[in-house]
Amino acid sequence: MCHACAPAIDPQQQSDFAERLLGMLNGGMTSLMISIGHRAGLFDAMADGIARTSHELAAEAALNERYVREWLGAMVAARIIERNPVAGTHRLPPEHAACLSRKSPSDNMGVFMQYLAGLGAVEDRVLDCFREGGGVAYEEFPRFHDVMEEDSGQSIVPVIVEKVVPLFEGLHERLTAGIDVLDIGCGRGRALMELASAYPKSRFVGYDLSGPAIERASEFAAERGLGNLRFEVRDLTDWSEPASFDWVTAMDAIHDQARPDKVLRSIREALRSGGAFLMQDIDASSEPCDNAAHPLGPMLYTISCMHCMTVSLAQGGMGLGTAWGVQLAEKMLREAGFEDIRIHRFEHDIQNAYFVMRV
Ligand SMILES: C[S@@+](CC[C@H](N)C(=O)[O-])C[C@H]1O[C@@H](n2cnc3c(N)ncnc32)[C@H](O)[C@@H]1O
Repeated sequence: MCHACAPAIDPQQQSDFAERLLGMLNGGMTSLMISIGHRAGLFDAMADGIARTSHELAAEAALNERYVREWLGAMVAARIIERNPVAGTHRLPPEHAACLSRKSPSDNMGVFMQYLAGLGAVEDRVLDCFREGGGVAYEEFPRFHDVMEEDSGQSIVPVIVEKVVPLFEGLHERLTAGIDVLDIGCGRGRALMELASAYPKSRFVGYDLSGPAIERASEFAAERGLGNLRFEVRDLTDWSEPASFDWVTAMDAIHDQARPDKVLRSIREALRSGGAFLMQDIDASSEPCDNAAHPLGPMLYTISCMHCMTVSLAQGGMGLGTAWGVQLAEKMLREAGFEDIRIHRFEHDIQNAYFVMRV
């Protein structure tokens, strides 16, 4: 391109954009430190709002003081923790503790910050896929099920009995009397455990591809003495169990399947007459432009590219992506044979839409 044809640059726009990028860089770095603070229990230790020195905090949290002091430096620079330079103490304001400690069971952003390091760990592998295609398999992601368990522990586990079951008219009564329930892609199965405990006369089963996740789920269920619940390792790609269940649930477990189209058809077939299907899945638009206004837009596409899409492609699958969108979801649900589809949203869960279907 000749010099005369080069596009004119608006210096103000360039400077504003550079500033935005700087904000992203600092935000990303801070997110990694928040993740460490969450995992190390530092926010929990400071959630009482009492000011502490780095030595006091390190002793309470049983951690190395030098690392704790550097972490505090990052938190002070990011204006997450307040420092009194005279006393050398640090305080987590209660409003910040409400967003970062385990005392807030539904609003702990520290849980989500853990995804950054998990995705960073597979960057080389994802880059290989940019060049060669293919995907990165589930088992290559360190701590995926640890983080997912905490994630769904905030989004659906606390509301599954009290808010999700009532979305289906008459379901509470049927569960109380005793029906067959299947959760597909159940991971560590925490939501199913809540249901099994609330409805002892119903029978619950969870299927998932991951052997370690199913092993942990089975251990937890045994610890809780839940005899009406079992878990099985199953690849759902070619699964078929016609007319076997009264309620099927899929919690954040359709879009990253190898063949979501086949799984949705199998779910439709697996339902008995009068049965119901809950699909909790990402509340995004199938049109990327719309997602620029989504509060989690960039996060959804990043998690997609570096996890949800790639794990599906690793199974030779469709690679729908996290932001497949409610429009495509509805189309695929209809193609699978679901006609009565309603979509609900909960204020506490900005990430997901709840598709409620009856057959
Ligand atoms: C995003 S996680 C959700 C886990 C769980 N439902 C929760 O909310 O915590 C998706 C789950 O789908 C499972 N999955 C992916 N592909 C699968 C397949 N082909 N067959 C069975 N499970 C699969 C994964 O192992 C993973 O546990």
